[in-house]
Amino acid sequence: MSDVSLTVNGKRVSGSVEDRTLLVHFLRENLGLTGTHVGCDTSQCGTCVVHVDGRAVKSCTMLAAQASGSTIVTIEGLANGAELHPVQAAFKEHHGLQCGFCTPGMIMAATDMIARHPQGLDEATVRAELDGNICRCTGYHNIVKAILAASQAMSKGAKGKAKQAA
Ligand code: FES
Ligand code: FES
Repeated sequence: MSDVSLTVNGKRVSGSVEDRTLLVHFLRENLGLTGTHVGCDTSQCGTCVVHVDGRAVKSCTMLAAQASGSTIVTIEGLANGAELHPVQAAFKEHHGLQCGFCTPGMIMAATDMIARHPQGLDEATVRAELDGNICRCTGYHNIVKAILAASQAMSKGAKGKAKQAA
């Protein structure tokens, strides 16, 4: 058994888990954060993506014990109360989902992607970066549109804040 202690969506949590427990199972089964999905057993689908210390990680590829001491954000931690995160809002506005199964992983991957490209994103980059996230419903077109729109909205917001501060 391993003792695990992490910060998840701003709260300190701890638990004792079997050494083989994956981070995704710890989040879902120990913490009840079932927005993080499990869509495969081959680390291909990306439905399990969360942020570990600010970077998108497939939580089925990491042991809970390995994540001990880290700061984790899951889809449940993205909105600001009732206010959707700009990426969530863009997925809603641009119909970037159908069944929604892939959506939490897509959104967590997209927020990391946008943070790593503060100068903005183009369609080819978004499509290449989504290589590790599979959607069986949408044909990706509206997902890409949503991510591009969120990237634009977030860079406008950042420029607006910088102007105010100047
Ligand atoms: S559950 Fe499919 S990549 Fe993690
Ligand atoms: S919306 Fe159904 S799998 Fe992507």
